[in-house]
Amino acid sequence: MKQKNPRKTSEAAEENPKEFLADPYGRKVTGLRISITDRCNLSCIYCHNEGAEGCTCGPIGHEMTPELICGIVREAAKFGVSKVKFSGGEPLFRKDFEDILSCLPPLKEVSATTNGILLEKRAKTLKAAGLDRVNVSLDTLVPEKYEAITGAPAGSLEKVVKGIESAVEAGLTPVKLNMVLLKGINDNEIDSMMEFIRPYKGKVILQLIELMDIDPKLSKYTIDSKALEKSLAERASEVRVRHLHHRKKYIIDGVEVEFVHPMDNSEFCAHCSRLRITADGKFKPCLLVNDNLVDVREARSPEEIEKLLRLAVSRRKPYYIPIKVFEQEKNQLEEKKGKEEKWVQK
Ligand code: 5AD
Repeated sequence: MKQKNPRKTSEAAEENPKEFLADPYGRKVTGLRISITDRCNLSCIYCHNEGAEGCTCGPIGHEMTPELICGIVREAAKFGVSKVKFSGGEPLFRKDFEDILSCLPPLKEVSATTNGILLEKRAKTLKAAGLDRVNVSLDTLVPEKYEAITGAPAGSLEKVVKGIESAVEAGLTPVKLNMVLLKGINDNEIDSMMEFIRPYKGKVILQLIELMDIDPKLSKYTIDSKALEKSLAERASEVRVRHLHHRKKYIIDGVEVEFVHPMDNSEFCAHCSRLRITADGKFKPCLLVNDNLVDVREARSPEEIEKLLRLAVSRRKPYYIPIKVFEQEKNQLEEKKGKEEKWVQK
């Protein structure tokens, strides 16, 4: 296993790429979210499986090789892609994750989303191989609830907490805790989660995530996002807005809390700058759409990768259309209807 980090994180990716890739709506693609495996040791009640239709939870054989992954990132970096996030399944199931990290080109940020169970032993080697930071999925601090949400065996929550500690020690910071809010299950734990991160003095950030109720069975767990945002804003000494997805950050009693509100949110889509890649090697223009994937596994040269990358970007469309575009489209339709009516009256 290669452990040396060939890319300097301080070294930005192509600062002035020859060209940025923008979709037909003018949204530039500056990040990739790459699923490197469908395999996972948890079965969370809400998991959207990164948008894969059903969980393929496929065989190892269909996973992309480190060479293909790095070839894609190298090509994308030429066009200004500077942030890469690895996800799964559980990305730490890939024993060659360090090899994948080691062959990446210079980038501004390389991160991963993990459930943290296997993190304790890997944090140092991942950092050495070039990982900058991690997101750790953690919805509750109560062991029984953790086991009920994730299907994990007893003792797992403790492993996650140790994983978070190791990540902080290894410098995989800021560590972001992904807390998916589930009404009646963990929506009363926001304050205890804030207390949990306080001792880490800014090295751990709480990211509250609105549940995407992809399955009608989940609707009963949906929280009232507007009310939550209002209460966060009231408690905050400072509010900042991040460009990616137009996310709001609240500083509350010295603790950083971010709120991710993806549902029915046209602002979220309008500011989306990511392209996804599925574990079996397909560009995926949107988490919620499955009929526009672009297979990149057969690409044999950088030129072919570039062609497929351009095709995938051209297929990007905001899932929730921004109000302005919606109104423009509506006006155009009404104008057309008006003309047709006048014509009929004549
Ligand atoms: N709603 C919101 N977030 C989800 N995630 C997975 N499924 C859902 C869902 N239905 C996010 C969680 C987890 C990451 C891997 O994906 O934040 O941490």
